[in-house]
Amino acid sequence: MAYKIAIIVGSLREDSLNRKVARSICAIRGDNLDCSMIEIGDLPLYNQDYDALPQQPEQYVRFRDQVRAADGVLFVSPEYNRGIPGVLKNAIDVGSRPYGKSVWDMKPAAIVTASPGSIGGFGANHQIRQSCVFLNMPVMQQPEAYLGHVTDDSFDDSGKLKDGPLKDLVTKLAHAFHDWVDMIHRSRAALSEDSAHSSAAANAKEHA
Ligand SMILES: Cc1cc2nc3c(=O)[nH]c(=O)nc-3n(C[C@H](O)[C@H](O)[C@H](O)COP(=O)(O)O)c2cc1C
Repeated sequence: MAYKIAIIVGSLREDSLNRKVARSICAIRGDNLDCSMIEIGDLPLYNQDYDALPQQPEQYVRFRDQVRAADGVLFVSPEYNRGIPGVLKNAIDVGSRPYGKSVWDMKPAAIVTASPGSIGGFGANHQIRQSCVFLNMPVMQQPEAYLGHVTDDSFDDSGKLKDGPLKDLVTKLAHAFHDWVDMIHRSRAALSEDSAHSSAAANAKEHA
């Protein structure tokens, strides 16, 4: 079954390496992951005063609806100054509020960071992970994806990753992410079926 995946890219740059990595992941799992890139560049900076407004900013409404409709979330981001790019942190904050209405809650997630540098955005990757943990998102643990030494040369003319170790890792990740989302959704369905059976049995016993 194809799961709906919201892809959130932490770079607004037109020729973003991370956006190309995200597109490559979608191409690899075309049949099983129904990917949509969610726009974050137009989100006004989060201000808690907005939470009390009767009408939320329209970009917030659009963004929250898109994430809410997804079965899973894939973050693909550069690292800025060893941390999360501000535009991505803003999107995470926007999705997390108003209090009690977070659109991230229980969404399975995976995190990929890519950089021309050698440590592949490790710092940003773990900062994103930290927010996901707080936001109650089950985050895939393996394979970890700190993609280092990524340059324009890593991609072919169509903008997809060329064959090689980088593509191999991303392919492994795309398969693992599908299985992760599938496991979480199937386990939840089985648990809710179990609990429906238990309540029906308890009800029957009470009325016997
Ligand atoms: C403000 C800024 C800070 C950066 N800090 C880091 C960093 O901490 N670690 C790193 O590996 N690369 C850093 N870079 C380089 C980015 O990895 C590089 O520009 C990359 O291409 C950005 O991702 P994108 O191509 O998806 O836009 C930084 C770039 C900018 C513009």
